[in-house]
Amino acid sequence: MREDAYRSRGTRNTAFSALLQLASDTRILTANKSLVFCYITSPAVAALYEHAVAMRPFAILALFLDLFDLAAQPHAPQRPHAQEVLDGYSGTLIAMPPLPTYTGAKIIPDTDHPYIAPGPEDLRGPCPGMNTLANHGYIPRSGIASFEDIVSGMTEAFNLDQDFGAFITALNMLMRGNPFVNKMSIGGVSPLVPPLPNNAGTPGGISLHGGIEGDASMTRADMYIGDNINFQHLMYDMDLVLLGQHGGNGPDGNSTVFTRETMVAIKTFDILSDQANNPKFDYPPRRINGSFLEASFVIEIFANHTTNQATLPIVGSFMRNETFPQNWFRPAAPKTGGESALAILEGLQIKVVPGHNDENGVYVADAPLPAPFNNSLACAAYYDFVAAIPPSLGNSTGLLFENVKFLSNFVSRSMRRPECDVALLPGPIVVDS
Ligand code: HEM
Repeated sequence: MREDAYRSRGTRNTAFSALLQLASDTRILTANKSLVFCYITSPAVAALYEHAVAMRPFAILALFLDLFDLAAQPHAPQRPHAQEVLDGYSGTLIAMPPLPTYTGAKIIPDTDHPYIAPGPEDLRGPCPGMNTLANHGYIPRSGIASFEDIVSGMTEAFNLDQDFGAFITALNMLMRGNPFVNKMSIGGVSPLVPPLPNNAGTPGGISLHGGIEGDASMTRADMYIGDNINFQHLMYDMDLVLLGQHGGNGPDGNSTVFTRETMVAIKTFDILSDQANNPKFDYPPRRINGSFLEASFVIEIFANHTTNQATLPIVGSFMRNETFPQNWFRPAAPKTGGESALAILEGLQIKVVPGHNDENGVYVADAPLPAPFNNSLACAAYYDFVAAIPPSLGNSTGLLFENVKFLSNFVSRSMRRPECDVALLPGPIVVDS
């Protein structure tokens, strides 16, 4: 193991990194309810921000820098706390699951993982990928999973790059799970995921708005105007209308293959219609990041990897029915799924910057983040994701803190960029040699 090796480490997540690195020299898209768009360039726009909203991230950052004693982390963390009990709950030391021995193509699901519809106690949420894994038992069917469960399930079923899978899972565990007991809900709050130690609140699960979950989704409504957790048939039907206009040709007929152009059309529609219809539309850096990655997943991960096509029946199987399609092959080599994210974002005719609707329904840019997090959208997303992690985790000790550092490592090494090379999370950056 070596520390701070990220500086010389070539990232395997190149496309995703490219998205993260996208400079923030974009114009500000504004929309009003009559769907008339213009571009605001005046700094006077800042005057429109509510003071509390503008100040919130700064306060959270200050708290983080204060609570995370960054200077006191000179060496790779020792992880001696195998057992610990806090508030009556046993902690579990989180570890990276072993790398799979076979990482090539294969048919999914295998016979050990049949589809079983979720029972009344099983939790499902806004992610069709997680729901599908749970419906086939690649992660626990209850919908309550550990870091290792999710990383192993994603690598096995989707052949997701393990390092990348660890990054998304770690980020969500920190934002929405309980890293002490190593449990996270792929839906909402669950009695199986206890409150964080030291009365620091009950984890909301990945359904809780404001982490990855946010506005401008493809098949879930914005929280302020509808059901942001469960699949919405009408929204997906709209996606299919756009498929009909912008889809590629395939074995099921003309305009039946989801392509980058299709995803560009869908994301454009999602953003514009939600800006117009949701008075509280909010599109912060972390959500911009997540929403384009998710769009990329549709064509890069859901595609059948014998043909590399994400066809109408295949995407419908994942999105609507949350089950693997018939004769579906996972990728022939591990991949991140973020390969098309930047191309989709750049394909939009509108340029997007982090912002929200003001009281007149006009989209205005968020207040600039403090330097150096204003250097790029990547840096803004890094800052913004960290701001969604409960600050109490930085003030933890013992096994909980070991787990927080372990998880933070995956987030830091994926999100800390040269242009904002500031530690916001505890622990040194450590990569496998
Ligand atoms: C192979 C891995 C994954 C795939 C293929 C996948 C796929 C997707 C897709 C396509 C969406 C968009 C749904 C929509 O816009 O209607 C989505 C949303 C989401 N995913 Fe995943 N995902 C993966 C991993 C994860 C992981 C590891 C987590 C967290 C543990 C996660 C959490 C979420 C959340 C919270 C949303 C909701 C975003 C929103 O629409 O507001 N995903 N995912």
